[in-house]
Amino acid sequence: MPAVSLSCRVCATDHPLEANGSCSRCFGPLDPVYDWDHLRATVSRESIAAGPASLWRYAALLPVEAPEVARLAPGFTPLVPAPRLATALGIGELWLKLDTANPTHSFKDRVVAVAARKAQELGFETLSCSSTGNLAGAVAARAAAEGLDAVVFVPSDLEPEKLAGAAVYGPKIYTVNGTYDHCSRLTVELSFELPWGFVNVNLRSYYAEGSKTIAYEIAEQLGWEAPDAIAIPIASGALFHKVGQGFSELRSIGLIDQPAPRLFGGQAEGCQPVATAFRDEVSVQPVRPNTVARSLAIGNPADGDFAVATARETGGAIYAVAEEAVGENMALLAQTTGVFGETATGVTLGALRAAIAARELGPRSRVVLLVTGDGLKTPQPVAHTYNPVPIEADADAFIDQVIAA
Ligand SMILES: Cc1ncc(COP(=O)(O)O)c(C=O)c1O
Ligand SMILES: [Zn+2]
Repeated sequence: MPAVSLSCRVCATDHPLEANGSCSRCFGPLDPVYDWDHLRATVSRESIAAGPASLWRYAALLPVEAPEVARLAPGFTPLVPAPRLATALGIGELWLKLDTANPTHSFKDRVVAVAARKAQELGFETLSCSSTGNLAGAVAARAAAEGLDAVVFVPSDLEPEKLAGAAVYGPKIYTVNGTYDHCSRLTVELSFELPWGFVNVNLRSYYAEGSKTIAYEIAEQLGWEAPDAIAIPIASGALFHKVGQGFSELRSIGLIDQPAPRLFGGQAEGCQPVATAFRDEVSVQPVRPNTVARSLAIGNPADGDFAVATARETGGAIYAVAEEAVGENMALLAQTTGVFGETATGVTLGALRAAIAARELGPRSRVVLLVTGDGLKTPQPVAHTYNPVPIEADADAFIDQVIAA
């Protein structure tokens, strides 16, 4: 058994490995507990390298058994160098972690793969979630691959491209009159009434662990080294917190020697509860989101305070990025690397630029930027880059009027 129990992150009370999203004593989040002595004795670079080219190569460090037949397995996404962007930004080395290569083009396929495994272990037949868009697609695709039903709850103002990208897999989609936070509260209430596996509610402890695999992969792909820093987008804060946890775990089982990388988080100005809490050194206060970065529009982030703590522990920071900069950064990334990241990535690049402007990172830094979602799902902020020149299909006229001019 890979994990032995769930433990409350706040009061350390133990809970069984069931569908249970929060501590019965203090409502704190629950994390799986592993037998670290056993893992230290059994997990090695070689045992990982012998595994499949997907996140299931790290199954020993996840709270579920790897599936016997892995359908549409996410993970082990490319880590590619971005020398032109590194030069433009003035940092020594920049790598892009392309989670757009996952089955539904976002990192959410990782968290859903782990949660869905647990849902199947527990016998749930319906997979559900509240979502800012990408999660809905990931849940719908996973359900289609596994033969489960999918029911997703999203705010009604999501990008049409994102909704179409989820609808095609055949889930039941409910568009909620309200923000993501209304969807989230609704699913928490429904989770007490319905026998469904809500991936980010009653299965959240398992779901969140999927994000650790990004840390494992970055370390392995850099030859079992930690970079100096990683730039990460923040919505609920779970991804940010779990990437930090992933690096601590690698150190504790002796797979890397360096300290954990400094983690730099980004939020858009129109929804920056975690960046504000970091800046003002207070606990996270809920806000009402109004941002172009819809995938990050969580006003009441469940793991916000833990993300702030992770930023401080790793010597990183969390920045708010101007709304106008989101599209500019998406275009800058595309034009210097050939990678079209979504709005969340525009925010992530904004956070990296803020860290460089603050001289936290410079010519000696080796940095990884997470590309967690695909720009084809959120093209609106870069619509201004489309300025075609109309011409006739006439080569002489083209040479005369365009080339010679
Ligand atoms: C593309 C993308 N990046 C990052 C995030 C942030 O993830 P988290 O809620 O774990 O902070 C999301 C969340 O929906 C997302 O869709
Ligand atoms: Zn507790």
